[in-house]
Amino acid sequence: MITESHVDPHVFVVFGGTGDLMRRKLLPSIFRLGEQDRMGPKYKVLAIAREKDISNEQYRERARTALEEFVPESKDAKQWCDSCLHYQTIGDASPADYKRIKEYIEQLESEYELPGNRSFYLALPPGVFVSTIEGLGESGLNRSDGWTRLVIEKPFGRDLESAIELNRIVHKHFDESQVYRIDHYLGKETVQNMMVFRFANPIFESVWNRDRVKDVQITVAESVGVGTRAGYYDQAGALRDMIQNHLTQLLTLTAMESPVSLKADSVRSEKVKVLQAIAPIREEDVVFGQYSAGHVRDETVKSYLHEDGVVPGSNTETFVALKLHIENWRWQGVPFYVRTGKRMKQRLTQITVNFKRPPVTLFEPFDSAKVSPNAIVLTLQPDEGFDLRFEVKSPNETALIQSKKLSFQYAEEFGRLPDGYETLLHDILTNDQTLFVRSDEVEHSWELYEPLLELDVNVYPYRAGGWGPSASDQLLERGDDAWTLS
Ligand SMILES: NC(=O)c1ccc[n+]([C@@H]2O[C@H](COP(=O)([O-])OP(=O)(O)OC[C@H]3O[C@@H](n4cnc5c(N)ncnc54)[C@H](OP(=O)(O)O)[C@@H]3O)[C@@H](O)[C@H]2O)c1
Repeated sequence: MITESHVDPHVFVVFGGTGDLMRRKLLPSIFRLGEQDRMGPKYKVLAIAREKDISNEQYRERARTALEEFVPESKDAKQWCDSCLHYQTIGDASPADYKRIKEYIEQLESEYELPGNRSFYLALPPGVFVSTIEGLGESGLNRSDGWTRLVIEKPFGRDLESAIELNRIVHKHFDESQVYRIDHYLGKETVQNMMVFRFANPIFESVWNRDRVKDVQITVAESVGVGTRAGYYDQAGALRDMIQNHLTQLLTLTAMESPVSLKADSVRSEKVKVLQAIAPIREEDVVFGQYSAGHVRDETVKSYLHEDGVVPGSNTETFVALKLHIENWRWQGVPFYVRTGKRMKQRLTQITVNFKRPPVTLFEPFDSAKVSPNAIVLTLQPDEGFDLRFEVKSPNETALIQSKKLSFQYAEEFGRLPDGYETLLHDILTNDQTLFVRSDEVEHSWELYEPLLELDVNVYPYRAGGWGPSASDQLLERGDDAWTLS
């Protein structure tokens, strides 16, 4: 993840090659990696879907259109599509279909002198993960003369039982060392920087504990509604869609101990220890909400219940706020607040570490409770970077204190940042599993949240364009805290 390594010649196979993820994220990322010579000396991309009557030429034309939209500055898209892309239908996904796909891959390898290294990326509806993994295993596509890697998109299961079952099927055909469970939040530069920020800067790490930290807050706010995903989302809700995976990943990276090395398993084991230390979440520390009609950035938007595809009267949560306690030496007594919601005031992903206020203050008329806490705010979206907040004296007034910040923005220093998928795809090709979720990690995470799936809690309505239901503010006020935003 942090070092640059060599990429072997390979075939990159995408199941779900005509889908939204492929069009908007995977194709542009593979193309950009190719432009930067980071896809290796020789490679072919094979897209697979059920659609039958698409020739290679037609698929390349579609891909070119997508690249024009998502990589508008590119000049070589047509040439790249013509030389790299292939398409095959999976038909009815019968054994004969898998055999035909296997033969097609072997033919590509023989024609272009590729040594049998293969990645299989499942950009598929989650309902067909199991059958596709079984199909790969039973057709012998899980092994080759080179390396074989399996990439699985989110969501990984919909509860503990289904996640365990999916892991069982994966391990029936693949070794864990071949498996890459994607959480695209981990591809973001700020998330990767978390370890450098903490473990290469002793000034931060030395205060990163219960002696100095008052609370930690993680917000993943979306301004969009459910859009065209209601069919999936109404069955899932925000807890499954966001908290169990993305927010939990951010939390474990924020809270983990220093790993003994940067090897993938060292890092992932430290994240698992955090999950193991989180106390069972109490019902009174859970707030669910669902957006009603409102205004987001001057646009009038409808309520969740009026969105296309939402079941009438649905009780699905589009907002979750939680208070968590990590019962270990570093964090005992420090509340971790996490929240996520759709149709919030703005799109924003932030991790805020609020430090304790001074025990007394000399600066009348302020008492210590009115001095803002020092804070480190890591912003993942929309502008990756971080702020260090501190108090200063206003000139010309004896004791008026104001909050100011020192800011660092990635784009200002380094220009365009790679999309998270670019980083993750390159890691797959260089066999670096650090930014991918291990099987025990996913199961521990489900173990933590499974009891909440069964809770019969109130789902509070909240106005679209705000910051969620007031019950979420009360969750913090009970502990004399408040949500911090930049
Ligand atoms: N889109 C995103 O931004 C995004 C972000 C994060 C995660 N994901 C995850 O990525 C996966 C794909 O999402 P998506 O948005 O791309 O979905 P999508 O637009 O519905 O595309 C699904 C793709 O799978 C193919 N497909 C469906 N059933 C199949 C089967 N039985 N065998 C082989 N191919 C099949 C579809 O083509 P045919 O119908 O022709 O088969 C299509 O190419 C999902 O797990 C999703 O949760 C997506």
